[in-house]
Amino acid sequence: MKKIRKLGILTGGGDCPGLNAVIRAVVHTAQREFDLEVCGILDGYAGLIHNHVRKLELTDVSGILPRGGTILGTSNRDNPFRYADDWRGVKKEYHDVSAQAMKTIENNGIDVLLAVGGDGTQIIAQQFYEKYHLPVIGIPKTIDNDLNGTDVTFGFDTALTIATSAIDKLHSTAESHHRIMVIEVMGRYAGWIALESGLAGGGDVILIPEIPFVIGSVCEKINDRARKGKRFSLVVVAEGARAEGGQLVVARQVQDACDPIRLGGIAAQVGNQIEDMTGIESRYTILGHVQRGGSPTPFDRILATRFGYHAVVAAVNREFGCLVGLRGREIKTTPIKEAVAEPRRVNPESDLVKTALAVGTCLGK
Ligand code: F6P
Repeated sequence: MKKIRKLGILTGGGDCPGLNAVIRAVVHTAQREFDLEVCGILDGYAGLIHNHVRKLELTDVSGILPRGGTILGTSNRDNPFRYADDWRGVKKEYHDVSAQAMKTIENNGIDVLLAVGGDGTQIIAQQFYEKYHLPVIGIPKTIDNDLNGTDVTFGFDTALTIATSAIDKLHSTAESHHRIMVIEVMGRYAGWIALESGLAGGGDVILIPEIPFVIGSVCEKINDRARKGKRFSLVVVAEGARAEGGQLVVARQVQDACDPIRLGGIAAQVGNQIEDMTGIESRYTILGHVQRGGSPTPFDRILATRFGYHAVVAAVNREFGCLVGLRGREIKTTPIKEAVAEPRRVNPESDLVKTALAVGTCLGK
């Protein structure tokens, strides 16, 4: 059995607060506890394809714990199994360059690859594991919180905090102007950010992808509030929400990404429809990438640090093909294959949904 001497770490997909905390924890744990070397692969899987790798020492990770983003860079395209060389060109040709990526692994003496990312990054890690038997360990990150194998991904709590703070700010201006404020939050096909920030911020209406909405019901709620003297309302809408029988609102397509769809724009539609149907002035805000930026919350810093530590332990224990995750209060591993089999979405029958309804929130039905 080959002795493990060197770990490689990459951060893939959309960035999120807490990535630097993971990198720091991995370098410290590897060096202090197990005397292992660590190298960082730059810009996600692009670094593997192009051999952009740098050694990571303790000095490289000093001071990065509270910093947002990732010191390694990231990319939510550059899939080595379906790679487009000339992605800016009109004509795109896709190739499998995974063998070239494997050369980077061999040439740099990487014994285990730690892949920090969401579903796209983990699916690619699993492909390397299956096709080349590359020892991989997954570390789940995403503001969307839509990955199985963990109760929560790091990055989510920070995004939730940012979204809640934005709802609080919109509340006061909505109340002063007697307006409807619609706020669109991220989350892709899962409604975690919308539902939890809506609950935390006291949203009157929360629209999530898991519960297709009826605009008439939304307006009924708003009119009912107006009749009771509340001439303003806060509507929190997930970017992946859609009307019953309606379509997702797509902002753009990124052809060479694992998932080419970029959602965005539902808030404008909902806001305009509410204004037309209720006669109450409406405005909308799309929170966008602000949700992914800045310093991680203490919860995310701690979770990311725990994931980093446990990923190194899992590597040393040769639990390859596994993802570390939070289960209850403990960190446990799950096969990546299981974790990515289907996305983790809000269960419309869940306690969280029942609670939202019980406190008078309209979920669009
Ligand atoms: O997956 C994280 C996420 O921020 C989603 O919530 C959002 O839909 C998407 O990434 C945006 O992607 P991009 O950074 O390519 O605009």
